[in-house]
Amino acid sequence: MPDTNNQFNLPVDELPRKWYNIAPDLPEPLPPPKDPPEGPSRVDMLPKFILKNCLGQEMSTDRWIDIPTGIRELFIQAGRPRPLMRALRLEKALKLPKTIRLYYKREDLSPTGSHKVNTALAQTYYAVKEGYSEVVTETGAGQWGSALSYAAALNDLKCRVFWTRAAYRWKPGRRTLMQLFGSDVFASPSKETKFGRELLKQNPQHVGSLGIAISEGIEDALNRDGSIYCLGSVLNHVLTHQTIIGLETIEQFKLADDEPTLLTGCFGGGSNLGGFVIPFAGEVLRKKRECSFLASQSEAAPNLVRGKYMYDHGDHAGLTPLLKMYSMGHDAELPEIWAEGIRYSSAAPLMSALRHHGLLDAVAYPVDEVHVFTQTRRFVQTEGFIPAPESSYGVCAAIDKALEFKQKGEEAVIGFNVSGHGFLDMQGFAKPLNLEW
Ligand SMILES: Cc1ncc(COP(=O)(O)O)c(C=O)c1O
Repeated sequence: MPDTNNQFNLPVDELPRKWYNIAPDLPEPLPPPKDPPEGPSRVDMLPKFILKNCLGQEMSTDRWIDIPTGIRELFIQAGRPRPLMRALRLEKALKLPKTIRLYYKREDLSPTGSHKVNTALAQTYYAVKEGYSEVVTETGAGQWGSALSYAAALNDLKCRVFWTRAAYRWKPGRRTLMQLFGSDVFASPSKETKFGRELLKQNPQHVGSLGIAISEGIEDALNRDGSIYCLGSVLNHVLTHQTIIGLETIEQFKLADDEPTLLTGCFGGGSNLGGFVIPFAGEVLRKKRECSFLASQSEAAPNLVRGKYMYDHGDHAGLTPLLKMYSMGHDAELPEIWAEGIRYSSAAPLMSALRHHGLLDAVAYPVDEVHVFTQTRRFVQTEGFIPAPESSYGVCAAIDKALEFKQKGEEAVIGFNVSGHGFLDMQGFAKPLNLEW
């Protein structure tokens, strides 16, 4: 393969036909969801706010799950498979030896600009099959809200989005995008729900959090006929839908005739990194390959780095069952950052299990984000496009690791997932980098 080839593309007919479920390959069964000691059973409520097909996948112990033809068609409509790129120009700028190579997966090329479209298309497809007319959700960065709005439009569903006020305020472009698709968008906490009204009473300018927006989305969906709640991260079925990323990447590394030794990406609830690495981690567990995995986080929400492995709710109000995960506490106050999408209290149970069993490392970068965006700027100026503020954490970790290996004289093949683009997030880069705004 000439060294100038920087693109590894799968033909459309090689788009995977099955998702990979890592649950049966884990060293121990995944701890099941539990009820808290008090209040109504949250476990019994699950079918009221998770689609039946998704709930089946949530509990499944089948290693492979068929992707329905209708969802494969939607994936193809959305531009899958997506390229794996060799970062030749970035390698040159970092003066890396040939023994350290960098590759990145382009999830930013999705119609709304992130990996979130993968599970949005699956969930809306199932929502139609199950007879719903409306989907309701939360969003942090605005990427999941955009993805679900897009998928709802394609599947002729109505859509309501509760968006953390912290990001709602400075991303009018994403708000318009969601509205163009036909969604109703509310700054969270909002006046639409009892929980939101209570929080607004305490503080009318409450900046919100993903945990609060999830509580609002669940409450809203439970109170509306024909409406079902959809979650954009954390849960097993979401990560399983996202394995389309890693399954494509395994085939693309074969095309590149190379083997990754380290895979990294940003980490909020864990869906993009999970989707990227879980198929590889499964092969590690089945002794078919060796590879390390690294989650890149912010000190604003370092759930894997400083959280405790414990049973906790996934939302602020405690409407979800208790899940065993690394968590900062479901009602933790998390400082605002520009990468709003990774400001979340807990790490997905599947990724928490990988960390617990020693397969997943994690790093957390300072809240001022200066180092992360400075490193990302090197990527922007060499590879030529703008990752999302969230994705920048994965870019930064890949660069930092490459430079560390160079200094130690070690070999490495590093893959990272560019989970989204930042074309609607300019202010987020301008402020920490002192650019004009
Ligand atoms: C582009 C992008 N990447 C990553 C994330 C973090 O979520 P997750 O850890 O589930 O991938 C978000 C969340 O909004 C996002 O918008």
